[in-house]
Amino acid sequence: MPKKFYVTTPIYYPSGKPHIGTTYTTVLADIFARWHKMLGEDVYFTTGTDEHGKKILDCAKEANQSPKKYVDEMSVHFKESFEAYNLSFDKFVRTTDPKHKKFCQGIIQKLYDKGDIYKGKYEGWYCVSCETYYTDKDLVDNKCPLHHKKVEWMEEETYLFKMSKYQNKVMDYIKKQDYIFPKSRQKYLINRMKEGVNDLSVSRANLDWGVQFPFDKKHVAYVWTDALWNYVTSTETESKIKFWPADIHITAHDIMWHHSVIWLSLLFAAGVKPPKKLLVHGFINADGGIKMSKSLGNVIDPMELIKTYPVDTIRYFLVREIPLGSDGTFSMAALNARHNNELVNDLGNLHSRTLTMIDKYFQGKIPRSSKNELVKKLHFKKINFYMEKYETHNALAEIWKFINECNKYINTNRPWELATSNPKKLETILYNLAESLRYLSIVLEPFIPETTEKIKKSLGLKKKETFKDLKFGLLGNNQVKKEGYLFIRIEEEKKMEKKSHKTTAGTPISTPEAGHYIPFKEWEKMKLRIGVIKKIQPHPDADRLYIMMVDLGEGETDRQIVAGLKEHYKPEELLNKEVVIFTNLQPTIIRGVESNGMVLVAEFEGKVSVLTPEKKMHPGAQIR
Ligand code: MSP
Repeated sequence: MPKKFYVTTPIYYPSGKPHIGTTYTTVLADIFARWHKMLGEDVYFTTGTDEHGKKILDCAKEANQSPKKYVDEMSVHFKESFEAYNLSFDKFVRTTDPKHKKFCQGIIQKLYDKGDIYKGKYEGWYCVSCETYYTDKDLVDNKCPLHHKKVEWMEEETYLFKMSKYQNKVMDYIKKQDYIFPKSRQKYLINRMKEGVNDLSVSRANLDWGVQFPFDKKHVAYVWTDALWNYVTSTETESKIKFWPADIHITAHDIMWHHSVIWLSLLFAAGVKPPKKLLVHGFINADGGIKMSKSLGNVIDPMELIKTYPVDTIRYFLVREIPLGSDGTFSMAALNARHNNELVNDLGNLHSRTLTMIDKYFQGKIPRSSKNELVKKLHFKKINFYMEKYETHNALAEIWKFINECNKYINTNRPWELATSNPKKLETILYNLAESLRYLSIVLEPFIPETTEKIKKSLGLKKKETFKDLKFGLLGNNQVKKEGYLFIRIEEEKKMEKKSHKTTAGTPISTPEAGHYIPFKEWEKMKLRIGVIKKIQPHPDADRLYIMMVDLGEGETDRQIVAGLKEHYKPEELLNKEVVIFTNLQPTIIRGVESNGMVLVAEFEGKVSVLTPEKKMHPGAQIR
């Protein structure tokens, strides 16, 4: 029997459309779900919407709709957005589901019968935005500590749950089980618990929207007492019962108290096994570290974002950029840089170079070789270790080390020079590269599933593979299918243009005059350096091109650059010349030969001149 793995996200309030924060949590859950599937485990992944409570009722009133109609419409946005991001949830929970409601009523009755729910009076503060009770001590400037909004004073007859009774048991469980990741959050929570745990008001009188108390129809359940049980009700069918207790609940730190103290106390009171782990991630803030909020107009809409960026770019960015557990910033510039540098340049180029060469030298048929030279450098155990420690960003960094090794393997072996001189070696190199791509299609699947599907297709792979297939030699001599690039470069200007249409401030960023300029920051991205031409030879397949080896002061290896200078210079005129090189240009293959930079020239009416410094310069000297 395979091991079971049950992962959950919070169920979100459908009081507005989903935003990038909701996407973030659900992407993380998806990555863990997919990772465990690839490990061969039996996985269950749930997400959904939390549809009761005062907040929803207020929103529905404002929209002039019945609450049911309102949540029916709003929950669709969440489901659609999660589907658009390829989130592989097995169940989309809705707390208005009659089965869920019935289950909650059963629990409430049980706790009441047991004496753990009693009638009393609640007096205190309440924040509708987070549907949470606060004491005077919790408030910051008399406002909700999370939403910084005005809180309501509540004084009403209510049913209370004896949460204080479970304080010690909960504390013990959290400590023994090491329930909360990261440790710093666990410490914080334990300290907060030491300040005391009060009984919890679990019903609202005079609120006509929620799970009705079975023994007192005037009361509906406090939304959290209803919502938390979704994790259990999702397993209440014959085929799913085995999944409880959950292996990981994933949430941000705003609802850590609810998912530890409230949730564990309720479970202990009801005699239901507790979940194993609470994975608490950080908050995503807008550029500049500012909290995202509707009123500031800086909320990032995940559906808008995918009009410009591939879904996989956003998934990749979210987990690579923000260490799990820390707060992070969603910066468009950082998103763009990761897209262009890591996805287009590193992964995309590796894929396109490999396929182009298999196409060119073997008519698209992957050559075979038994020499295992490259995949040994993919350290799966280490990657899995990072995943077990919830260090998703490090897992990706480790995979990227391997991608860089593969690119280095091409650069040092220079397969394009071997077609006639050493075809056997060429076969070995290209087989090893194709195998590496297959390995990448497996280990990257949980992170960027659309891309790994493309890689698999391009290698002619049809069967679903898992981590078990990380064995050298499984790739047959399939016919490759080169159908476009994995990722296309996104120019900052294009992105800015798009953004300017979207800006709510009403002032477009680019004016016709501004269109003549590139922003200063763009210039800083070009790395221009002095290079010395050390070797020069004509390109075997092109009349106007030279292949040059250029010393850029980068240590022992010179860079290979293909340049269209044959009509303008004799080789001896260029040899040992100091020229200006554009060094961080995306590497490309020109007529089968790789070029890693560009020689800058001046041109006027057909006359071309390379640029040389006036004084003798050191190779690698920077142009600025
Ligand atoms: N309905 C409750 C949860 C009940 S679970 C039994 C709720 N809903 S919520 O819509 O407010 O969602 C809060 C969660 O959304 C956070 O814990 C986090 O998972 C996600 N995020 C919302 N904004 C976020 C950011 N800006 N950054 C990261 N995650 C964010 O609380």
